[in-house]
Amino acid sequence: MQDIDTTKPIVVLTGAGISKESGLDTFRDADGIWSKVRIEDVATPEAFARDPDRVQAFYNARRQGLLGANVAPNPAHKALAKLEQHWPAGVLLVTQNIDDLHERAGSRFLIHMHGELLKARCSACGDITTCQGDLSRADRCIACGVSGQVRPHVVWFGEMPLEMERIEDALMACGLFISIGTSGNVYPAAGFVETVRQFGTGHSIELNLEPSLGASAFDDAKYGPASEVVTAYVDDLVAQL
Ligand code: APR
Repeated sequence: MQDIDTTKPIVVLTGAGISKESGLDTFRDADGIWSKVRIEDVATPEAFARDPDRVQAFYNARRQGLLGANVAPNPAHKALAKLEQHWPAGVLLVTQNIDDLHERAGSRFLIHMHGELLKARCSACGDITTCQGDLSRADRCIACGVSGQVRPHVVWFGEMPLEMERIEDALMACGLFISIGTSGNVYPAAGFVETVRQFGTGHSIELNLEPSLGASAFDDAKYGPASEVVTAYVDDLVAQL
């Protein structure tokens, strides 16, 4: 393994692939979510305006799936929590995932750039609450009292991902950027490796089941299931300390 500057922070980006071995579907693999439903029907503001019940049903089912007894963090989530505990200059974990498996594994410095399935947001006043049950158009916001405006706190296609300024600052300052389990189809996350290349000095590595669309932009790559490659890579990093 190349020597990594241990005096600089690490930025980790994760995508659906890291949660696959925890029992959650990815989006663009052969059996992925977007092979069963169309983005335009469930994951845009227009879809929600047109058919809120359908959109709520889609996220209600995913929320219940996430809370199912068989879904739990896998060794890759746990390895990233361990990295956070050990790396002296700090680790910022940026996830595109709306599940809470990083938190359950113990990660604390975490940005959910595409939002969180276990939170609801009122479109009328912006109030955000935790949410474990089903949402419906009958729901009334507990903060402003308006009905029919409570939606999943997730970022839909056409909406701005969350905390981009903080993420970009971290990418430019990091000594290592690790991208895990993401196909590189969706921007801005797919462009993070370019930000590191152009505006930062960090080394970059992709850990994925197969080469992503942006694979050639990375300095290094390791391919295999996240539970194996992430665990091994984190062990090697921590061994350098
Ligand atoms: N270990 C590691 N990688 C895996 C595994 C595994 N066990 N299983 C699948 N993968 C890889 C796939 O090879 C693929 O490259 O994970 C990647 C998953 O890609 P996508 O399904 O496109 O998921 P992601 O990149 O997270 O999608 C980005 O798209 O629809 C939106 O908002 C949604 O956040 C999501 C965004």
